[in-house]
Amino acid sequence: MLSQIEAVRIEIENDLAAVDSSAAVEAFRLKHLVKKGTLQGLIDQLRAVPKEEKPAIGKALNVLRSFVDSEFERLRTTYAQTSTVTPIDLSLPARGTQAGSVHPITQTLDRIVDIFSSMGFDVAEGPDVEDDARNFSKLNFAEDHPARDMQDTFFVNAADRNDLLLRTHTSSVQVRVMESTKPPIRCIMPGRVYRNEAVSARSLAEFHQVEGLYIDKGVTMADLKGTIMAFARRFYDENAKFRFRTSYFPFTEPSAEVDMSCFLCHGEGCRVCKHTGWLEIAGCGMVHPNVLTACGIDPEEYSGFAFGFGVERVVMMLTGIDDIRLLYENDLRVLKQF
Ligand code: PHE
Repeated sequence: MLSQIEAVRIEIENDLAAVDSSAAVEAFRLKHLVKKGTLQGLIDQLRAVPKEEKPAIGKALNVLRSFVDSEFERLRTTYAQTSTVTPIDLSLPARGTQAGSVHPITQTLDRIVDIFSSMGFDVAEGPDVEDDARNFSKLNFAEDHPARDMQDTFFVNAADRNDLLLRTHTSSVQVRVMESTKPPIRCIMPGRVYRNEAVSARSLAEFHQVEGLYIDKGVTMADLKGTIMAFARRFYDENAKFRFRTSYFPFTEPSAEVDMSCFLCHGEGCRVCKHTGWLEIAGCGMVHPNVLTACGIDPEEYSGFAFGFGVERVVMMLTGIDDIRLLYENDLRVLKQF
């Protein structure tokens, strides 16, 4: 066994002498110092050595081991210094960082808020989880009103009450503002709304609306038309033409749908307006007296108008994006364009 140890020592000395790089240091370690390496191989044999020979052989092994350990450590530090420290090239150009940008929906909301703010409107917000009263009942949706089916509602399971839902429109915020503010009221309510609709290129179950509310003494339909037209001329096209078509909402009477001449083709007919020359831009109407009463405002003393529109649709018209889902996929190739 002693001669075997001697043979290994000679082999190791030769190998040590040949080390000339960090890769060679590693090769040496893998050959001799790992569990299945030469040194451990010798140590494993110690068990089989007769008792009386053990002290001498154990000592020879220890000598060899500490010699190898210190030599290995010396070579390791020598070659570590020259091989792993890469000099820094200060002349290299810096790596570019990816700057984020404001999402097109947020950009559009910001512009809408800016314009209405300059016209004297405040911004009001409310909770996404709303109660039935503020989303429906106080807005003149009767208990069995078929209009409740117009907006497929997500109802919320709550332990202690059964009237919670995800708001289907931000009209619920109108109710909150009327409940808590004495007229004159002049504000817009931007926010996220939820409807249980099949997701497609044209609709999502979650989107944004901006609604507006103006209540004071003597507010008329003329004020409504003037406000919407002033907004749309600044937002879309200063030469736009408008048409107000009668429509129906439970919470307004009379109600109307507003069309604007297409800002792209100016009425000639194009892809954006589907060759009609007109774009539908908002629903609106005079606040129903029942709504005013339900919210604590005397309809004999005050009148008002309300309007509302979907923000994603606006973004799609303005950008030419033809699949609404693209606005929610956070694909930088899409978002970087705006
Ligand atoms: N709340 C209506 C909707 O979600 C929009 C609207 C608001 C219509 C105010 C008229 C007046 O479709």
